[in-house]
Amino acid sequence: MKKLMAANWKMFKTWDDARATAQELVDLSASALPDDREVLICPPFTAIKAVSEVLGPVPGFSVGGQDFYVREEGAFTGEISPAMLKDVGAGFGLTGHSERRHVLGESDAYVGEKTAYGLAAGLKVILCVGEMIEERKAGQVEDVLERQIRAGVADVARDVDPNDLCVAYEPVWAIGTGEVAGPREILEAHASTRKILQSLFGDNANEIRILYGGSVKPANCAEIIALDNVDGVLVGGASLQGESFSQIVLA
Ligand code: PGA
Repeated sequence: MKKLMAANWKMFKTWDDARATAQELVDLSASALPDDREVLICPPFTAIKAVSEVLGPVPGFSVGGQDFYVREEGAFTGEISPAMLKDVGAGFGLTGHSERRHVLGESDAYVGEKTAYGLAAGLKVILCVGEMIEERKAGQVEDVLERQIRAGVADVARDVDPNDLCVAYEPVWAIGTGEVAGPREILEAHASTRKILQSLFGDNANEIRILYGGSVKPANCAEIIALDNVDGVLVGGASLQGESFSQIVLA
């Protein structure tokens, strides 16, 4: 199983800036990328093509969309389909990111519909889950993970190709705050995630990658990526510069 080192650029970067950052990342990390790692960048929709032109020819590097809608085409103003993502070179899509759940109001059920739709449409999907600080303080981390994962994969076949589905554990309180979860918190949440996935997918679950996200930086990545059941990282702020993301990718 290759570790997935993923960047989520959120609503940052113009076409030119995106291309320059992707090129810098390739220049700094492609020749040293270990065989057991792959790199993914999820730019804003408007820059996907710019990034896929840079990463397309580079082994081990790929592009994804941060979101997509659950139809192939139609009268859905503002939305983008998996087919459109694939058309500009994106092979992955994110679902359930905390900003889509908590800022844009997406429900567990809609995240589940999107995850199944994206997979059926030929995308690899990274389903993001994670508790808010009040939920952690109330001792509900495992309950939240159970609820979000069960709803998130409710319509995903038990024999899904495990290479096509990843789950990213991203505690909401650690996203964009500089406050990273500690090793013990990550170990516990990832072990719970694995257990929940096993109950749903049997042995297949052992091959589903579980990523950690939330204030991953060059200084903490090596420690995080070495933990049990951490099969990659999903990085926001520290992925915006080629230099810092290259250090994460190679950590
Ligand atoms: P962060 O974001 O690395 O800036 O905390 C992570 C994410 O939102 O995926």
